[in-house]
Order: sequence, then C-alpha cells, then structure tokens
Amino acid sequence: MITLRTLDNGFTYLDIRNDHACAKIALQGAHIFHYQRHDESPLLWLSDASILQPGTAIRGGIPICWPWFGMPDDPALPQHGFARVLPWDYEIVTDHNDVTVIVFRLQPSTQTKTFWPYRFELSLQITVNDQLGLKLTTANTDVEIMTISSALHTYFAITDIHSVKVLGLEGKPYWDALSDTNHIQAGGIMFSAETDRVYQHVDNTIKLLDPKRTISIDNNGSSSVVVWNPWIEKSTRMSAMMPDSYLSMLCIETANAREDSITLSPGQSHTLGTRIH
Ligand code: BG6
Repeated sequence: MITLRTLDNGFTYLDIRNDHACAKIALQGAHIFHYQRHDESPLLWLSDASILQPGTAIRGGIPICWPWFGMPDDPALPQHGFARVLPWDYEIVTDHNDVTVIVFRLQPSTQTKTFWPYRFELSLQITVNDQLGLKLTTANTDVEIMTISSALHTYFAITDIHSVKVLGLEGKPYWDALSDTNHIQAGGIMFSAETDRVYQHVDNTIKLLDPKRTISIDNNGSSSVVVWNPWIEKSTRMSAMMPDSYLSMLCIETANAREDSITLSPGQSHTLGTRIH
C-alpha cells in the first residue's frame, strides 16, 4: 500500500507498507529516508536533528548525489550536486503485497540549467521488499559529451560505531580525503576516528557487520565506494547533526566517484545500482 502524505509545511513523501517492510520516500530528491523490515530495527539512519522541510537536504536515509559527488570546482555550486533537494516526479510501477516498485524522474529545467548546462533524463527506481534496491539511470539527451560523478549516499543505522566492522574492501586502493593521500586497505575496517575515504576497483559484496545483524551491499555500475563517519568534532559543526550522531551512523556509499566518474556521449546512458539485504 502506498499513501501520499504532506506535512503542514508542504513536505511531501510516499508512505509504503507491504508484507516485508515499510518505507518513506520524499518527493524532493527521490530521497528514501526510512526503510524497515517488519521484524527488524530501521536499516537507514535518520538524524534526530534533521528537519523535514521543502528545499532542505535531509540528513540521513539515501541522498542522491548527482551530477557530481563531493565539492565541485566552482565553490558557488552545492556539494554533492542539486538532485537531492529538487522535486522529482514519480510513477508507481508495482504495488503488490510482496513488492513495491516506484520510479522517480528528474527532468532538466531552467533551475537545473543554472547549475549544469546539459540536457538529461534522470530516473531512480526504488524496490521495496525484504531487500532494498535502487537503480539510478542517467541518459545523455544533450548534443555534448557529459561527465558525471554520483553516489547513493546510504546512511546505515548501527548499534555503535566502535563495534561495527566493514568487510569486502580488503586489498582495495583508497584515497583518504582527510589527508589527500592514497593507500591500500589492510584487513576489515574498524572505526576509532573521523573516516572519509573513496575506495576504487570494488567489484564484490560489501558486508557491514553489526553486533545485531549483518548487512550485505551488492553494487552494480559502480567500482567506487565511499566510507564516511564524521566522528565527534565534525558531527558537532555539521548541519542537522547532534554531537553524538557519529555513534549511530555509518555511510557506505555506492558511487561513481573520482576515477570511476562516467563519461556519456549523446544518446548513451548509465545505471548505478545497489541492492541492500
Ligand atoms: C560524504 C563525504 O560523502 O558526505 C564527506 O565524503 C561529507 O566529506 C559527507 O562531509 C556529507 O556531506 P553533506 O553535503 O551531506 O554535508
């Protein structure tokens, strides 16, 4: 069952419930900010300090970073692109007891052209059942070649940052954004300080081991993965975060970032996808 809900301030979202799970997806940014299997705690982290209001980025869930990931060369442009705060259209593809599929679309407009000059078609298919699936497809409908970087910027809800471990990135090269240095990952990742890394050449399942569950992440159309936790000091100064927010969240982001950016000729398209289970 899918219900369209609007808060008093005009913030609109789809409230989804089927036999396996419930989910909430904002029309702004096609941003899923809640997904929970009926027998489990929420899979996605949402900051207690995040205010759901039109035009404000949501801190948590899965922001769509597009058509660039991170800070663009022009500091006047927004970090992580513009798609995460603009309103998207949607179409309900499947609304069955066991599975819900919705496709969101963002079209070029005078507003998008102020940020980025290209014509494009962007769609996000979200599948909700006992797994959560996202497929972000970019089509170049322009006459020029375009290069995009992007991410499905997933905030996972965790028991405690000190007790989780990420497996599947062992032996992979990564760029450390904090020190602007390159490394090779030795062993599983555990956390004891701010972490902000872009891993490359990733072609396998990633596992997030939490004391209460193991989450598997299968990506496609992507060979880069971002692992991010702001730790104490950055949590304190970031928007829509509490000083202790870093304890209960970990971002493992399905990306096309840095050397895994995608160049599309006119008429070409690319899909970045993830399946979380
Ligand atoms: C991560 C970046 O993907 O997003 C971090 O690696 C950044 O450097 C974080 O701080 C949050 O970004 P934002 O724009 O949502 O505050």
